[in-house]
Amino acid sequence: MKLNHFAAAAVATVALPVLVACAATAGTAVAADVTYRADVAPMLKTHCADCHSAAAGAPTIKEYDLAKDKYKKEKVGPRVDTYETVLQLIAYPDAGAFMRRLDDGTSQYAGGKPGNMYKHLGETEAERAKNLATLKAWVGEGGWNLNRFKARKDVPGLTKEQMEKLVLKY
Ligand code: HEC
Repeated sequence: MKLNHFAAAAVATVALPVLVACAATAGTAVAADVTYRADVAPMLKTHCADCHSAAAGAPTIKEYDLAKDKYKKEKVGPRVDTYETVLQLIAYPDAGAFMRRLDDGTSQYAGGKPGNMYKHLGETEAERAKNLATLKAWVGEGGWNLNRFKARKDVPGLTKEQMEKLVLKY
């Protein structure tokens, strides 16, 4: 389809105020409709694939659990290169692992410390913050919880109410 000049100008005048409005309301503007395919997969490919993809020799979470030391020595973690492998680290069986490792330290139960994978989210603090905001929007409002499936120490287990907040649009 060819867009003539008039149409292009019309699109620009409509789009610009919307962009400005978004940037004004949130320091880190996030697309309203975040999806795995459009937003999350490319991000994880750029920032995580070197150590968390099948191509890098990374295992699925269950294989990883069987031989953690071996994989740690090889400097690979469980795969996050498909929708399904990512969901296994968000919801089940390794509930909250994704959030615990990628949190910037501000969530409940983070203990004020960023997760040890947070640094991989970007080169600059601004990029890391923006990518984290996108991931949080994707997971869903109220769905970014650091709890495990079962209670551990003084951190309660994940509740059904928390689970129901997960959106994770494909
Ligand atoms: C330089 C290699 C490297 C990069 C890049 C990297 N990771 Fe990791 N990651 C590891 C290793 C090695 C482990 C296992 C050791 C550990 O638990 O810290 C790990 C562990 C994890 C875990 C915990 C898995 C579990 O259930 O125990 C998660 C979740 C994770 N990484 C997510 C990510 C995400 C998402 C990215 C991209 C933003 C990323 N990592 C980038 C090497 C990396």
